[in-house]
Amino acid sequence: MSFLLSAYRTLRPLLFRLDPEPAHGLAFGLGKIAQPIPGTTNLLAAMAGQPSPSLAREVCGLHFSSPLGLAAGLDKGAELLPIWKALGFGFVEIGTVTPRPQPGNPKPRLFRIPTEGLILNRMGFNSEGAEVVARRLKHRPSGLIIGGNLGKNKLTSEEQALDDYRMAYRLIAPEVDYTAINISSPNTPGLRKLQAPEALKPLLEGLLVTRKDLALERQPLFVKLAPDLESEELDAIVDVIAASGLDGIIATNTTLDRGIVSEANRPKVQAWGDGGLSGVGLKDKAREVRRRILQRMPAGMPFMACGGIGNGADAREALADGAPLIQIYSALIFQGPGLVSEINRQLVSPST
Ligand SMILES: Cc1cc2nc3c(=O)[nH]c(=O)nc-3n(C[C@H](O)[C@H](O)[C@H](O)COP(=O)(O)O)c2cc1C
Repeated sequence: MSFLLSAYRTLRPLLFRLDPEPAHGLAFGLGKIAQPIPGTTNLLAAMAGQPSPSLAREVCGLHFSSPLGLAAGLDKGAELLPIWKALGFGFVEIGTVTPRPQPGNPKPRLFRIPTEGLILNRMGFNSEGAEVVARRLKHRPSGLIIGGNLGKNKLTSEEQALDDYRMAYRLIAPEVDYTAINISSPNTPGLRKLQAPEALKPLLEGLLVTRKDLALERQPLFVKLAPDLESEELDAIVDVIAASGLDGIIATNTTLDRGIVSEANRPKVQAWGDGGLSGVGLKDKAREVRRRILQRMPAGMPFMACGGIGNGADAREALADGAPLIQIYSALIFQGPGLVSEINRQLVSPST
């Protein structure tokens, strides 16, 4: 086992004694202190080991050093990019960034079930706003693909959503390599309604006009979908996305389905209240959705697989399904930063 994996295994009981959001704040705060100290990221990169050159790939004209990326939501403000790169991620999706700053939902809004590798969150797009994040991105490290995941402000109606996405896009898109339209968070009231074909079509068309206005036609634009769609609904959505001229799909976001929690833990999760679930239990559902989308999508259209991926076997399975890129979030919380190089390693040598 790598040093990073075993070190996290030792530290985890202490970290998990804290409530999830303060624990996240502590780990993030330490990262922010360590990151600017000369030599830190080099040391981390040396400990993690960088992705084998055989993992590198071109997708949408972008060069990824590994197919493994950090999913949106962990580094909402693009604050730890050098650290993610040092750990061996091929790409990082920052955000969700909203056009204007907003605090997100009241706390507590983040919960975990370590015995099941599950997280429940109703963060509700806590965001510093697109201006602040865009300014920070001007100092982004080279050699790491960065995606900008965009959302609307809570108080913006669904009818006005396009204006919000456009505002966030204008500020963030020039600073990143691809953008992702998040219409699948369950924690912003009404957001998922934007997935309905009649709402989705004008939204995507409008954003493609903005992309053209900014002369960013060559920059890939993705849309991120929920795992809670009926099959026919999903097919109709994929058809709208494919016809729109958008570049690709990310699936999935968190699920509202409490059925993925063991019966023993379900009452506790019900008591926590609203929110989306992610982690191990989401894997089967996300895989089902992914396979349906990949079957329906035009051949060769890029896809990012997300949801419950937690080891090399899961990652390989997603790649074998036809996803050229994969993203992780929850597994990183439970297994720690050494997981990135571990998955990279297992993608090259499955049996070791
Ligand atoms: C605490 C938390 C916050 C999240 N925030 C966002 C977000 O802001 N935008 C987004 O598109 N997805 C967000 N997600 C969803 C993840 O990007 C990912 O789609 C989901 O967690 C499934 O992947 P996983 O099972 O590997 O965690 C969040 C997930 C968690 C656990």
